[in-house]
Amino acid sequence: MRRTHAVALLIFGSITAVLTTHVYSQSPPAPGTGHGFLIDKHIAAGLNCSACHAESPPAKAPDTAACTKCHGSYSDIAAKTAQDQPNPHASHLGDIPCASCHHIHQASVTYCAQCHNFDMKTP
Ligand code: HEC
Ligand code: HEC
Ligand code: HEC
Ligand code: HEC
Repeated sequence: MRRTHAVALLIFGSITAVLTTHVYSQSPPAPGTGHGFLIDKHIAAGLNCSACHAESPPAKAPDTAACTKCHGSYSDIAAKTAQDQPNPHASHLGDIPCASCHHIHQASVTYCAQCHNFDMKTP
C-alpha cells in the first residue's frame, strides 16, 4: 500500500516536473493571458507578476508569505471557510504552505486527499 503510494507520487512528481519545465522553458506566462488556473483570477483582479514574485522577471515560486500579505493569516482564511467540514485551513497539519494545495499557474491539488476521502475541491 505505502509502496504503491510512493511509486504513484514519484510518477506524478516526474510528470509535473516535465510539464512545468516544458511550459516555462518555452515562455513564461505573459501578463493578461489566461491559463485556466488561479492566475486568471489574480490577473482579472488587476494584479501583475510582482504582486507575488519578488524578483523581476519571476524566476522561482514565491513562498507562503507572498499569499498571506493579501489574504491574511491562516486563522483569517480559516474564518472564511469555517462552514466547511472539515475546514481545509484549520486541520491537524497546522499552517502548512499554501502551495500544498493551491497552485497559481497549474492545477491545484488537495493535500488531505493523500490520506482522506473528503469532498474537498481546491480552487
Ligand atoms: C498570485 C500570485 C502569483 C502571481 C500574480 C504570479 N505568479 Fe508566478 N508563480 C506563483 C506561484 C505560487 C508559483 C509556483 C508554481 C505554482 O504554484 O503555480 C509561480 C511560479 C512561476 C514561475 C516558475 C518558477 C519555477 O518554479 O521554475 C514563473 C516563471 C512565473 N511564476 C512567472 C510569472 C509571471 C510572468 C507572472 C505575471 C504574469 C506571474 N508569475 C504571476 C505565483 C504567482
Ligand atoms: C496582491 C494581493 C494578492 C496576492 C499576493 C495573492 N492574492 Fe490571491 N487573490 C487576490 C485577489 C484580489 C483575488 C480575487 C478576489 C478574491 O477572490 O478574493 C484573489 C483570489 C484568490 C483565491 C480565490 C479563488 C476563488 O476561487 O475564489 C485563492 C484561492 C487565492 N487567491 C490564493 C492565493 C495564493 C495561494 C497566493 C500566493 C501564491 C495568493 N492568492 C496571492 C489577491 C492576492
Ligand atoms: C489543505 C489544502 C489547502 C491549503 C493548504 C490552503 N488552502 Fe485555501 N482553500 C482550500 C480549499 C479546499 C478551498 C475551497 C473552500 C471552499 O470553497 O469552501 C480554499 C479556499 C481558499 C480561498 C477562498 C476563500 C473564500 O471562500 O473566500 C482563499 C483566499 C484561500 N483558500 C487562500 C489560501 C491561502 C492564502 C493559503 C495558505 C496560507 C491556503 N489557502 C492554504 C484548500 C487549501
Ligand atoms: C499523512 C496523512 C494525513 C494527511 C495528509 C491528513 N490527515 Fe487528517 N488524519 C490522519 C490520521 C492518521 C488521522 C487520525 C485517524 C483517523 O481518525 O482517521 C486523521 C484525522 C483527521 C480528522 C479527524 C477524523 C475524521 O476523519 O473526521 C480530520 C477532520 C482530519 N484528519 C482532517 C484533515 C484535513 C482537513 C487534512 C488536510 C488539510 C488532513 N486531515 C490531512 C492523517 C492525515
